[in-house]
Amino acid sequence: MTVLVTGGAGYIGSHAVRALCAASVPTVVLDDLSTGCASLVPPNVPLIQGNIRQRTLVADTLRRHAVDSVIHFAASIVVPDSVERPLDYYTNNVANSLRLIEACVAHGVRHFVFSSSAAVYGQPSIVPVPEDAPPAPVNPYGTTKLMIEWVLRDTAAAHGLRYGALRYFNVAGADPAGQVGQVSRESTHLIKTACEAALGLRPEIAIYGTDYPTPDGTCIRDYIHVSDLADIHVLALCRLQEGGDSFVANCGYGRGYSVREVLSAVERIHGRPLNVREASRRPGDPPALVADTTRLARVLGWRPRSDALDDIISTALAWERRFANVKPAFASDLAAAPAMFAT
Ligand code: UFG
Repeated sequence: MTVLVTGGAGYIGSHAVRALCAASVPTVVLDDLSTGCASLVPPNVPLIQGNIRQRTLVADTLRRHAVDSVIHFAASIVVPDSVERPLDYYTNNVANSLRLIEACVAHGVRHFVFSSSAAVYGQPSIVPVPEDAPPAPVNPYGTTKLMIEWVLRDTAAAHGLRYGALRYFNVAGADPAGQVGQVSRESTHLIKTACEAALGLRPEIAIYGTDYPTPDGTCIRDYIHVSDLADIHVLALCRLQEGGDSFVANCGYGRGYSVREVLSAVERIHGRPLNVREASRRPGDPPALVADTTRLARVLGWRPRSDALDDIISTALAWERRFANVKPAFASDLAAAPAMFAT
């Protein structure tokens, strides 16, 4: 039986596909390549170019590949965009996911792993935040993720589908072997942006807010290595395939670093100072967001390979160095140059 990975040519999806291949799980990828790269999908994994809203294509894929499990990454993911274009986010992340879930029910898919987000918590009052903290998203992106968690909960109760909803905290880093990493035209995430600044690909890095109620005045986040997160998807799938109950779990290390701590680590690892500018707060940023990881360890028996911030940053820097050599050849050019990223 095969696993369908939607968005498997994207940043986290491509790492998960590598982890599935390493675990010898038969895998097929569905990706519309709007932000993903064909060359990030291993050559031995079928890549179907299309969108989850295409009912016939999805149905044919589920049938033809005898899919019994789905890992669903395909989504729009930029928080400020979701504030500016909420309807696009509700269409892509909610309406299109609904179509996918309907197709799964119709074609007997039994297991579903969903990319959810810490954004469902909004500005939590308890840190580290446990999964049973009241969800209170503060942007449309977080709301779309919560809505699909609820759709899955109700679908599971009515149709017997079992699911795992993985609430990602701050995902960063790249495959230590350098085969896949984050390819994006306009990154906004701290570690990627800081690595780009370190390599001279952008002139500076801004610190958004230095007056937060935290020890050094900057926001604290729980950074998880993308390869660790990829492994969590394989474990989640195995748990469901072995008959485990549906679950919702935070994905982080349970340890927070401030923006200043992250930037200092980038400077230390890169060996040169960054051009840092102190700026005003970015709207909607909670002061501290750290995962309570008790459930993740209990339900999946998961332990990080390494929870060192340095490993996240050094792999992110290595990827950016490599990727810098092909800029400005982004997605489409990368797709035409698979040898550059061949296994
Ligand atoms: N930051 C800076 N400068 C930058 C970029 C970020 O100071 O150039 C700060 C932000 O203000 C924030 C921290 O670094 O305090 C982390 O910001 P990121 O943009 O890297 O990540 P977020 O915490 O905003 O977002 C992450 C995920 C989202 C998810 C959200 C949940 O990327 O998908 O957590 O709260 F929705």
